[in-house]
Order: sequence, then C-alpha cells, then structure tokens
Amino acid sequence: MRTPLVAGNWKMNGSRETIKELINGVVEGAKVLNGIDIAVCPSAIHIADVTEVTAGSNVAVGSQHACIELKGAFTGETSIDMIKEFGCQYAIVGHSERRTIYGETDEMVAKKFAVVKKTGMIPIFCIGETLEEREANITEKVCAHQIDVVFALEGDNAFEGAVIAYEPVWAIGTGKTASPEQAQAVHAFIRQHIAERNADIAEKVQILYGGSMNPMNAKELMDQKDIDGGLIGGASLKHEDFLVICQAAQVSI
Ligand code: PGA
Repeated sequence: MRTPLVAGNWKMNGSRETIKELINGVVEGAKVLNGIDIAVCPSAIHIADVTEVTAGSNVAVGSQHACIELKGAFTGETSIDMIKEFGCQYAIVGHSERRTIYGETDEMVAKKFAVVKKTGMIPIFCIGETLEEREANITEKVCAHQIDVVFALEGDNAFEGAVIAYEPVWAIGTGKTASPEQAQAVHAFIRQHIAERNADIAEKVQILYGGSMNPMNAKELMDQKDIDGGLIGGASLKHEDFLVICQAAQVSI
C-alpha cells in the first residue's frame, strides 16, 4: 500500500504576510491528519519563513525550482544545496510551466532530477501531454519519452525515492480536470512503464495527479487505484481547500 502525498504548488503567489497565514493554517489543520504525506512548495524567497513554521510538524516543504548546476556563476539561480540547507525535502522538477515558459527540455529536466536525487532530496517529477498531443492520441508516447530520458541518465532504478506527478498540460490552471478514468488510464500506463525496468520500484512509487484538482473532485480522483495523491496549484492557496484535499487523500487509503 502506498502512502498518499498531497503537495501544494504555490507558484509565484503571496506576500510574506499572506504566506505566513497560509502555512499557519495548513500546519494547524494538518495536526489531525495522519497516514498521508503533506508538502507545500513556496516560492524560493518564502522557504525560510515557511520552514520556520513547519519545523516539528507533519508538513514538509519543497522547492518549485532549482538550478541545474551545483554552484558558481549563475546569476539569479538558487542551488539545490541552498534549498536543502533551508529545510526542504522535496523539489519539483519539470513542471510544464518551466518547460513551456522557460524552455526546459526533457534533457535539462532529467539532469535536474539527477541533481535533486544526489542531494538526498525527493524530486517531484512532472510529466504530461498538451491538448494537441492528447488529441493526436500520443499521450502515452509523450509521457514514456519524458520518463525514458530520466532512465537513460539515471538507469533502471531512477525512480527509487522519487515522486512522479502526471499533469496534463491542458488541465493546469484551466479548471478542466482529467476525468478519473482518463487520469487512471495514464497513471496505470506510467506505472507499467516503470515496471518494465523495475517492478518493485513501480509498485512503490507515488504517482500524483495534477491539473485543477480541487475539494470537489479530489476524492473521486484519489479513489483510483494508481492515483496516489495530488499536486495542487490554485486550490492550495486557501488552507481550507487544501486541507479538504488532504482529508480526501486520507480516506482514500
Ligand atoms: P492547478 O495547478 O491545480 O492550478 O491546475 C497544478 C500544478 O500546476 O501543479
């Protein structure tokens, strides 16, 4: 049985004040939750404020981004060691916004994945197809390729100690959610694809769904056999909504 993970991706939102309110609300509400993993991913500049509140709680913290390089002359970047030093356990890699807006290629994402793992942190590796790709019936091909680039770099055990987030690009921030059946079909495909390299890791790896998950649809999605939680954008910005999604994960166990 896999432990569900609910991770909030706060993206570039909030001020120091509103983020403190948000994390206090999450930590308070999470006290009664158990049997699930909970994480929040603030903007890098808010990480220190957030880890101060989460210390000793059951809420972990992740970064949304990290530099592909370990240190040196990379103006404006934050290294994975810096992120780790501030108490993060997770790092999102390959989010579709980074891929499409900032031109991160499959190869760059795979290299970042390797850097995150090397520091002992847990990558939340995002994959998923665009609407065009879904309509062209190549969803599985696209996801398989994104995964295979990581296998090529890291070998058959690449996904040991990693999290995968299936996030259909057409569902992110659009209010259009994949139906539970659509999402389950891709999750099962992803798990099978990993199993071809290592069945044991495939059975253990948490595969999250992301893309307009909210308090209304979370339970139905997380009730699916291969959906092990969610990566939540918009709905993670209100602690009440985020906590309802965490509760849905708890009852899905
Ligand atoms: P959303 O974002 O929940 O707002 O669709 C999800 C994500 O980008 O991870």
